[in-house]
Amino acid sequence: MEELTDTPVLLLDRDRLDGNILRMREKLAPFNVTLRPHVKTNKCLEVTERFFADGRGPITVSTLREADFFFAAGFTDILYAVGISPNKFAHAARLLEQGADLKLVLDNIESARLLAEFACSSGQAFEVLLEVDCDGHRSGIAPQSTLLVEIAHLLSHSGVRVSGVMTHAGNSYDSRSIAEIEAYARQERAAVVEAAQLLNEAGFDLSIISIGSTPTALFTQDLSGITEVRAGVFAFFDLVMAGLGVCDVQDIAVSVLTTVIGHQPEKGWIIVDAGWMALSRDRGTAKQRVDQGYGIVCDLSGQPIGDLIVTAVNQEHGIISSRSGNPEAVLVLPVGTQLRILPNHACATAAQHSGYHVLTEGRHLGYWPRFAGW
Ligand SMILES: Cc1ncc(COP(=O)(O)O)c(C=O)c1O
Repeated sequence: MEELTDTPVLLLDRDRLDGNILRMREKLAPFNVTLRPHVKTNKCLEVTERFFADGRGPITVSTLREADFFFAAGFTDILYAVGISPNKFAHAARLLEQGADLKLVLDNIESARLLAEFACSSGQAFEVLLEVDCDGHRSGIAPQSTLLVEIAHLLSHSGVRVSGVMTHAGNSYDSRSIAEIEAYARQERAAVVEAAQLLNEAGFDLSIISIGSTPTALFTQDLSGITEVRAGVFAFFDLVMAGLGVCDVQDIAVSVLTTVIGHQPEKGWIIVDAGWMALSRDRGTAKQRVDQGYGIVCDLSGQPIGDLIVTAVNQEHGIISSRSGNPEAVLVLPVGTQLRILPNHACATAAQHSGYHVLTEGRHLGYWPRFAGW
């Protein structure tokens, strides 16, 4: 790899990215479902294009900024998978007016009433998926709750189309075994199918039954009744996913290139120029069986070096030590050595950077910009 001098920078291994996308596509192929990848992880046109062999398929976004960006790039079928609030109605309406096939999500009567009022006054034809709570992780309505039907009636009376239900098995990230992930996958499917049935019985004809998290998507055994799967972090993977057993460390496609700037031999420390600004403060592996600090330290080819991890970070300094406390392990990397740090949480680490330096077979292929903000 040609030397990148302005470290720290974010690297993306395109071959691993393509391999990860292929794995998800192959996993879902036997089921009759659409992949609606979540692009919040990458926020990058060149990465998102690689999800689709041809054309621009359906995507999931976490911000209306993502919706704007990808719609301008030709993606029309967009699910904004964070509950809509009144301050964003006009923005969503603008996207619809421009021709986006935008779907909104909500999970409460208050938001539904406000959207219904806005729809009546603006004449805008909104489309909504009701959010179902499959595991108590965050938001959503219980799958057997008649509130689903109440909200669906309220919306449809105001011309808002209720086209589906969606859920996200966020608790799968806390699994301790593959068997537990499989159980979350069953629970995720069952919840949203139950909610859809309730709405069907009340006369609503739903075309979208949407689930999705990377662990459950990759370990599901049954997707009957499901029409689409939203997953995001699978494209890059990270140490949290590796800790869950969802991927191998060798599958992680993003890393932060950093340079050794000094040592504290008596403490067994290597100091590098990647602090939390480059790695993020995410400590997602802290609650896992193996705590990876702020990331696993690899050589330039991406191979982990002994048991080195980043144990502490300041804004622009990272401290690398040996997990086993062996101080000699850290003295073999002189000042100027370039290293790659694998991230705990790919979404958080990538968000610290304005683009990806893309590698293929160890060669530098180019720079793919990311966008940020809301
Ligand atoms: C609503 C929703 N759908 C899908 C996903 C994708 O999950 P993952 O990144 O595990 O694939 C997320 C991630 O946070 C989400 O919040």
